[in-house]
Amino acid sequence: MPDDHSPLDIFEGWSLYDCVVNNNYMLHEELIEAVAPHAARYGEPLRVLDLGCGDGYMAAGVLKGANVESYRGVDLSESGLKRAAERLAPIAARVEVHEGSIRAAVRESIEPPPNFLLASFSLHHYRVTELGPLIADCQRLIAAGGLFVWIDARRGHGESREEYLRRFHEVLLPTWSELSEDQMQEVRQHMNDEDFPASDDEKLALAKSAGFDEPDVLYADDYFSAHLFRKTGTNSLPTA
Ligand SMILES: C[S@@+](CC[C@H](N)C(=O)[O-])C[C@H]1O[C@@H](n2cnc3c(N)ncnc32)[C@H](O)[C@@H]1O
Repeated sequence: MPDDHSPLDIFEGWSLYDCVVNNNYMLHEELIEAVAPHAARYGEPLRVLDLGCGDGYMAAGVLKGANVESYRGVDLSESGLKRAAERLAPIAARVEVHEGSIRAAVRESIEPPPNFLLASFSLHHYRVTELGPLIADCQRLIAAGGLFVWIDARRGHGESREEYLRRFHEVLLPTWSELSEDQMQEVRQHMNDEDFPASDDEKLALAKSAGFDEPDVLYADDYFSAHLFRKTGTNSLPTA
């Protein structure tokens, strides 16, 4: 991304993304179904950090059956954060939202540390070459035994960014039939300017070198995937 401080145009108003989500074009429903059981059966109350939370739709779906002690959403979009705070209020005992970059958020230390880190369709806004330090900061930030759920676009094995974008624009985007031609053009423009999806091989290598355990692949198709990474250790806070 050109800089890490300005909201991306497409996520200042939410009508286009609402249309994508309401029509399940990015498979939010399947992804929620794949991830939610892991949030629900975590062995202690969740302290959630949601990186690039947007309007909170994914987080609300993933967390609706879980015991959520606290939820902190981070995003560059003020309008998204407002919607996320409203959406998560019935789900989490404590809700905070912060306007700022993902990169800055994972450099902070949070006490007590989050034990459930969610990054859903947000990390592809960084170039793959920028993700090494960022994923290492994620690993450092979360509690021992904590979970890192990385949901994102997925470039194919050996596929270039240009090939991925062409495939997306020529094969998948034309099926998003509820979008107007202007909206489709906005999606194409946004992706050409801002999207740098990693392949699953790259995600696994980044997480492994950051020190995460081998992941569970919770979902994968030709365009999207969800991985669950664990940080080794017991998932209990020390008693005082
Ligand atoms: C495709 S939306 C995903 C929203 C939500 N997490 C979901 O899964 O539906 C991407 C979100 O990431 C946010 N975003 C992109 N780059 C960011 C950055 N560097 N720091 C913080 N948020 C960022 C955008 O503002 C937007 O809300």
